[in-house]
Amino acid sequence: MPETVPVIAVDGTAGSGKGTLARNLANELGWHYLDSGALYRAIGLAVLERGANPDDAGACSEIARGLRIETQTLPESIRLLLDGVDVTARIREPEVGHVASRVSVHPEVRRALLDHQRAARRMPGLVADGRDMGTVIFPNACLKIHLTASLEERARRRQRQLEEMGINARLNTLIDELNQRDLQDMRRGASPLIQAPDAILIDTSACSIEEVHAKARACLPGILTQSDKGTHS
Ligand code: DC
Repeated sequence: MPETVPVIAVDGTAGSGKGTLARNLANELGWHYLDSGALYRAIGLAVLERGANPDDAGACSEIARGLRIETQTLPESIRLLLDGVDVTARIREPEVGHVASRVSVHPEVRRALLDHQRAARRMPGLVADGRDMGTVIFPNACLKIHLTASLEERARRRQRQLEEMGINARLNTLIDELNQRDLQDMRRGASPLIQAPDAILIDTSACSIEEVHAKARACLPGILTQSDKGTHS
């Protein structure tokens, strides 16, 4: 029964470190990993490629419903295929992130991704990252972590990531863009980014990747015992 498969939900703002934490936890536990943001990015990319208006709910949901999104897990990475085409690198482009945030406000677009996300809940467990993993998609997750970090620190991290991709960006521009994205993700009516009441809050501003991992890890032992009971009953 999928409902008995344990889920760890990691939600937070862009650049808070949720992807890194979720991937590392999944690797350590040998669980599946769901990057829900990649799915919204795939729709954002398709909307861009087709020249549709990201604010047009009807057009975006039609595109979302017609897309075939597949994820392939390789030993070192996860590939995303859109209608059979590998778009793993393209969905990481900054413009695609912004369009993803705009298309994700439409409830019909979110509905189109619901089954895909819930289907990722498979034995022995799932670590899922996004904005609404603990609040909407997996409300009965056995552990919910909400990550946050200062705007400046998140912009610095984004600047370093872009540098690695050969893209130079000004810090102030990145701060403005992240701020705009935060507001859009938090203020939308459908599944806004909010901290679930039962989520553990971790501020990653002054933490290394290892420190964040250790804090999350410290919440695990009891949870794993609980999920063992769930799967054997
Ligand atoms: O996590 P990310 O930066 O790759 O996500 C890109 C956008 O997708 C984000 O700004 C809002 C949207 N998103 C969402 O609405 N719900 C999710 N669970 C994940 C992402």
